[in-house]
Amino acid sequence: ETLDAAGLAILPGAIDVHVHFRDPGYDHKEDWESGTVAAAFGGVTTVFDMPNTVPTVDNPEALAQKHAIAASKAHVDYGLYAVLGESSLDHVETLADAGIIGFKLYMGNTFGRIASPSTGAMLELFEKVAPTGKRVSLHAETNSVMERRETALKAANRNAPLDHLASRPAVVAIEAVERAATLAEWTGARIHILHISSADELRPLADAKARGVDVTGETGPHYLMLGTDDYARFKGVIRVNPPVREASNQDPLWRALQSGLIDMVATDHAPHTPEEKQRENIWDVDCGFPGVETQMPLMLTAVAEGKLGFQDYVRVSSLAPARAFGLYPQKGVIAPGSDADFALVDLGAEWTLDDAQLHSRSRISPFDGRQVKGQVRHTIVRGRFIVRDGALVPDSKGTGRSVHAIQHMPEPRPLNRDKTLDAVTGKGEVL
Ligand code: NCD
Ligand code: ZN
Ligand code: ZN
Repeated sequence: ETLDAAGLAILPGAIDVHVHFRDPGYDHKEDWESGTVAAAFGGVTTVFDMPNTVPTVDNPEALAQKHAIAASKAHVDYGLYAVLGESSLDHVETLADAGIIGFKLYMGNTFGRIASPSTGAMLELFEKVAPTGKRVSLHAETNSVMERRETALKAANRNAPLDHLASRPAVVAIEAVERAATLAEWTGARIHILHISSADELRPLADAKARGVDVTGETGPHYLMLGTDDYARFKGVIRVNPPVREASNQDPLWRALQSGLIDMVATDHAPHTPEEKQRENIWDVDCGFPGVETQMPLMLTAVAEGKLGFQDYVRVSSLAPARAFGLYPQKGVIAPGSDADFALVDLGAEWTLDDAQLHSRSRISPFDGRQVKGQVRHTIVRGRFIVRDGALVPDSKGTGRSVHAIQHMPEPRPLNRDKTLDAVTGKGEVL
C-alpha cells in the first residue's frame, strides 16, 4: 500500500519529556491509552511519564506495575520517571537499573503532594544519583512562599482576582534553579530544569551552563504563547504550576529557545476533568491542562509566524530531548539506522483548536478556539503507522515500547573533587 505524502513535510516524531498520563491512580483524568492516543494525534512518538501517580513511583514494585500497564496500553514509545526523594533514597541504584528514563525531584509541592527534600537531603540524593548517569528532572520551585500566599488569599477573599495566580514571585524559581545547579556542579549529577516559565530563570540557567554544569532546560507552549491577559477568558482552566506569567516573558523565552539556552519544548501535559478545572473557588482548581496533542500545531504556527526557525523547531522538539536523555541517534533524527519515528505534517493547513476534538480524557484547555497553521496527517512509530490520514490505526494499542533499553548515557562525571573536604582536609571525605 503506498502513501500519498505529496505536499507534506516529514519531521522526526516529537519527544515530549514531560507528560502526566495519570495511570495508575487517576484514570478518570487520563490513562496510558488516552494519553498515548493524544500524543500520536499530535505527532509525538515518544513521551516521558511523570511519577506522581498512585502508588508513587519511588520503589521498584511501583515501577514494575507502571511498566506492565504502559506496555499493555501504549500507542507510542515511552520512558518512565521515578521519584528522587527521601522515600527513594535506598532505591536509587535499583531504580536506575530497573528501566527508568530519569529521575524526578520535586523541590516544591504540586499535584500528588510528593515531599520535597531539604538541601542537605538533596545533596545526598545527588551524590547517589551521579554515578548512575541518569538525568534528574527538577520541579524547580520552592513554594512555601507561594503556599502561604495562597492560603492567605483563600482565607481573605474567595474570589481573589485571577491575576493573583500569576503573582507567585519568580524568585522562588530563580533560587531553586541556582541551588539545583550548585548541587549538580558539586556532585557531577546531570539535571534538567522543567517548565521554565519566566525570563528571570534564564540567568541562573545560563550561569550554570557557563560553569560547565550538565544542565538542560525546557519551556512549554503555554509560557511562550499565553500571558496574564488570557486569565479573564480562561479563569481556572489556565491555572497551572508554575503559573502563566506576564506576556513580557514570551520574547525572552523564544530567544532562549532559538539560541539553545533553553534546550527543548515539552508540554507538561497535565490533564484534569472539566469539573476539576471549573470549581467555583479558584484555589480549589487542580493545576495543569492537556498539551501533548497541541504542541506541534501550536509551535508550527509560531514557526510560520517567524518566531522560530523550522530546523530550530525540529531541534527543540526532537533532537535535543533525544540527546539529553541518551536516545540519540536512535531517536531524534531521520537517518539511516535510526528508528523510523515520523510526523507527516500539512504545514499549510489552517484550522481551529477545539477542546471537543482532543483525544485526551481531559477535554479542557486554554488553547481552545486558537487558530493554528499546520496539521499532523500521519504519525509513524518505528516504521508502523499509528495515525494514518488523521485516523487512529486499529491494533496500535500495546505497540509502544519503553525506550530505557536503548538509552545510553555518557560516562558519569566524577565528583567535583576541589569542592569536597578532600581538598580541605586531605582525608577524602565528601562534604
Ligand atoms: C502537574 C500535575 O498536575 O501533575 N500540574 C501542573 O500544574 N503542572 C504537576 C507539575 O508538573 O508540577
Ligand atoms: Zn512540575
Ligand atoms: Zn508536570
